[in-house]
Amino acid sequence: MKKIKISPSILSADFSQLGNEIRKLEEGGADMIHVDVMDGHFVPNLTIGPPVIKALKKHSSVLFDVHLMISPVHDYIEAYSDAGADIITIHPEATNNLKSSILKIKELKKKVGVSLNPGTQIDTIIDFLEQIDLVLIMSVNPGFGGQKFMPEVLTKVKELKKIQKEKGLNFDIEIDGGINFDNAKTVIEAGANILVSGTTIFKSNNGDVKKNIELLKSK
Ligand code: DX5
Ligand code: ZN
Repeated sequence: MKKIKISPSILSADFSQLGNEIRKLEEGGADMIHVDVMDGHFVPNLTIGPPVIKALKKHSSVLFDVHLMISPVHDYIEAYSDAGADIITIHPEATNNLKSSILKIKELKKKVGVSLNPGTQIDTIIDFLEQIDLVLIMSVNPGFGGQKFMPEVLTKVKELKKIQKEKGLNFDIEIDGGINFDNAKTVIEAGANILVSGTTIFKSNNGDVKKNIELLKSK
């Protein structure tokens, strides 16, 4: 079994203190930093773009796990790569040609992530699994932090894990949305090995991110 990794989402951080927040996460044992990029079009919310990512990257030596919720995504991939993204995750619905967007990320020598919304089936990406480094399973509809975990996506995680074994592949299975101390064990047992978490990490236990990262990892 793969080692469980935690990718804290800075969506729940103090945006006036992002550099400090990232240092705190790194000191607290974060394996990577999850950056939620939203465009107010693919999802009904707007966050940050390449200049902010570039500035933050200077504050950190951990991987930047950049989740692009923007459409059309293809022509922006290079800007996020240049800004310092290590993993670039895209949604199939956000590109006209998933194959060429995957190739673009690979050409830039970044890790390829593809994300499945709660309503998007594994079939959408089945032909591309050999090229993918990470599948991000959304356990909420993307757009906002602090939403309630949708337990019905566990079936998809289990199914993906099964397909992975059958095909002898090694991509990471990351889960994003509503992860907390109560459901962490269940999602790990279903097959996820990277847990994204914003609210639980930044708001539980008076914002003791180290403690919260440790607690999620110990599940
Ligand atoms: C939702 C984002 C998530 C989310 C995680 O669109 O992709 O990363 O903010 O935050 P919590 O843990 O608060 O659900
Ligand atoms: Zn995300």
